[in-house]
Amino acid sequence: MTATVLDVRGLSKAFGGVRAVDDVHFTIAAGELLALIGPNGAGKSTCFNMLNGQLRPDGGSVQLNGRSIVGLPPRRVWRLGVGRTFQITATFVSMTVRENVQMALLSHHRRIGAVFARAGDLYRDEADALLERVAMRDQAERVCGVLAYGDLKRVELAVALANDPKLLLMDEPTAGMAPKERVQLMELAARLARERQVAVLFTEHDMDVVFAHADRIIVLDRGKLIAQGTPAEVRADPQVQAVYLGSGAMYGHAH
Ligand SMILES: Nc1ncnc2c1ncn2[C@@H]1O[C@H](COP(=O)(O)OP(=O)(O)OP(=O)(O)O)[C@@H](O)[C@H]1O
Ligand SMILES: [Mg+2]
Repeated sequence: MTATVLDVRGLSKAFGGVRAVDDVHFTIAAGELLALIGPNGAGKSTCFNMLNGQLRPDGGSVQLNGRSIVGLPPRRVWRLGVGRTFQITATFVSMTVRENVQMALLSHHRRIGAVFARAGDLYRDEADALLERVAMRDQAERVCGVLAYGDLKRVELAVALANDPKLLLMDEPTAGMAPKERVQLMELAARLARERQVAVLFTEHDMDVVFAHADRIIVLDRGKLIAQGTPAEVRADPQVQAVYLGSGAMYGHAH
């Protein structure tokens, strides 16, 4: 029996009259890749923002390894082991790839003051090891500002991994990527989940990528959870098919 890392119940958030997230529940186990899908405006990003402390839920519970994280600020949630990659990349553009990962390692080890002393050497090997994992070791000396988008996303993943996360949140990690890059990034995330026993929650609009890589899928529509299960179960669900009908996304690319 695998350990439940994240346990979400009754999660709700309204913006004015819009119920962006309405009574949503799910769990994620260590080493599991859970996809959160749904049309534009379904409430996916709002869910993410509540899980990492950026947004306070109106109601519901969020437990990380049995501990409530509702109401904690993002910094605290990050400290407890929730890593995140963003829809818009958040690296330091003027620093090199390696320095970005070193900064994250320094912060993780609570040695942020040391960065002014000898950042050049601190955690250099650890940073390179992480960059090796995301296939960015050969670009360690480049400043982030000049990187291709897909490469930047991999650096961002290395930065998230520097925190040794128990839960990794990836909100549309492959947005703006070429199809081949999308598959590679998701394969990498899936491999990291398995090898490091990280629980991974990701959103993705490309159904090919979702059905190929997710262990389980949950589907939101206008804030409500309409289905959850294995890729096969979700694909066969009539309500899910109704939501995606017209886009053709569910049918054209079955694996
Ligand atoms: N800060 C906000 N203020 C007001 N309304 C918001 C806010 N954030 C989200 N919403 C609304 O909440 C609903 C859910 O939005 P959300 O961004 O969570 O959807 P999403 O599933 O991430 O969509 P997308 O696939 O386009 O990223 C939408 O109706 C959106 O307009
Ligand atoms: Mg979103």
